Amino acid sequence: MMKDDIKEVLVSREQIETICKTLGEKITEDYKDKKLLVVGLLRGCMPFMAELILNINLYTELDYMVASSYEGGTSSTGHLVIKSDITTDVKGKDVLIVDDIIDTGLTLKEVKALFLNRGAASVKTCVMLDKTEGRKENINADYFGTTIPNKFVVGYGLDYGPYYRNLPYVGVLKEEVYKK
Ligand code: PRP
Repeated sequence: MMKDDIKEVLVSREQIETICKTLGEKITEDYKDKKLLVVGLLRGCMPFMAELILNINLYTELDYMVASSYEGGTSSTGHLVIKSDITTDVKGKDVLIVDDIIDTGLTLKEVKALFLNRGAASVKTCVMLDKTEGRKENINADYFGTTIPNKFVVGYGLDYGPYYRNLPYVGVLKEEVYKK
């Protein structure tokens, strides 16, 4: 069974609940009297985005983009491919990009630049996890839930070729799983 492959739970279901509540309230406060366009980066943004937006008390539009740099492996290819774009016009809008994790920073850097280039009024970023040691680009998330060590993690949206996204927590895989 899927959960038998997990060696260690890094961020529990309860911690994620608290993270979503805290971030949602902060975002609500920061964007007070504004409308928000939340753009989720599929597929990893699910289910973090689903839980986060329930804690945002603002008039909020949702859209999604399919972007990927890992292609099912364990490290970034260094090249971001946009496989499916948003359909909303970002011109003049306050955009919040939501993703599960920031690692090298390539994804958020490129998507943020794209929306600014398209004329968004503002672009901020929000992630559940910050793998600080993995950073290669000069960018940090404006909102993040918690930092994590430089381990390959799965669950709550994060996959390993192509499973574990539906684990209700963030965990570390047992080594033998990689060798299968
Ligand atoms: C993962 C994750 C982020 C990105 C973070 O996406 O969901 O989008 O990598 O890494 P970075 O900071 O080094 O760019 P992935 O490319 O695996 O696609 P996925 O969302 O379908 O899992």
